[in-house]
Amino acid sequence: MIDYDYLIAKYKNLGVSDKDLPTREMIKNDEEIKGIREAGRINTLVLDEVAKHIKAGMSTEDINEIVDKKTRELGGIPAPLNYEGFPKSVCTSINDAVCHGIPSKNDILKNGDIINVDCTTIYNGYYGDASRMFLIGNVDSEAKRLVDVTKEALDLCIKELKPYSRLRDIGYIIEKYCKKNGFSVVHEIGGHGVGKDFHEDPFVFHYGKKGTGMVLFPGMIFTIEPMVNEFSREVFLDSSNDWTIYTDDGGLSAQFEYTILITEDGIEILSR
Ligand code: MF3
Ligand code: CO
Ligand code: CO
Repeated sequence: MIDYDYLIAKYKNLGVSDKDLPTREMIKNDEEIKGIREAGRINTLVLDEVAKHIKAGMSTEDINEIVDKKTRELGGIPAPLNYEGFPKSVCTSINDAVCHGIPSKNDILKNGDIINVDCTTIYNGYYGDASRMFLIGNVDSEAKRLVDVTKEALDLCIKELKPYSRLRDIGYIIEKYCKKNGFSVVHEIGGHGVGKDFHEDPFVFHYGKKGTGMVLFPGMIFTIEPMVNEFSREVFLDSSNDWTIYTDDGGLSAQFEYTILITEDGIEILSR
């Protein structure tokens, strides 16, 4: 484990301000890391189960049942269910839905759809959070490119991040890569710390200025979960359910999410 007090003193001496230094609560101890790693592992297995079965003709309620059943079989609890009133066990966001889609038996997957499935598992009191895109049948090449670029942006960021990188480096890498490929990044929703709560500090921006923001200490665990739009980055909240976010212009949106741990020598992906 890191010597927190030593590192804080060191960075203060270098002129880094308090707001750019992690609090003690953001640094997980070995027991917490083990717990979150286990929750993340279970969460990944749940997404693997979705991957095995997802196909055209299935409803998003069917996906909800797969996630709920598999999570409980593995000894976990699906975190979305009843979280701040969310009515289902997973988020399913199709095409122009950016995130927080609510599973329904009326929403049937059809050939050419792209869908994000976002699973969060509570296991022994710890959380793991990840999401993936799935291509349903034959997806057109621009939609496929959007999905690929979104995943590549996240993987590029994992590749370039190091302990003591700065928080806003994450968003810098992601937005630069997406823009270069002609896409836009949603600003309103970000990643978050994960641990004994679903959403902990810090807020993880998917845009930003290189070399700024919080210093990333070993022991920090958080998600990176960029939402990338085909056209404009503008989004709106569906007022009929107060949950689902859509692109303003009706363009497609893609998202991948990992839970990651900053280690002494790199990054460990805890759920994907
Ligand atoms: N899993 C989402 C995230 O990545 C949060 C979903 S909240 C819910 O942070 F209530 F919609 F499930
Ligand atoms: Co999530
Ligand atoms: Co998340």
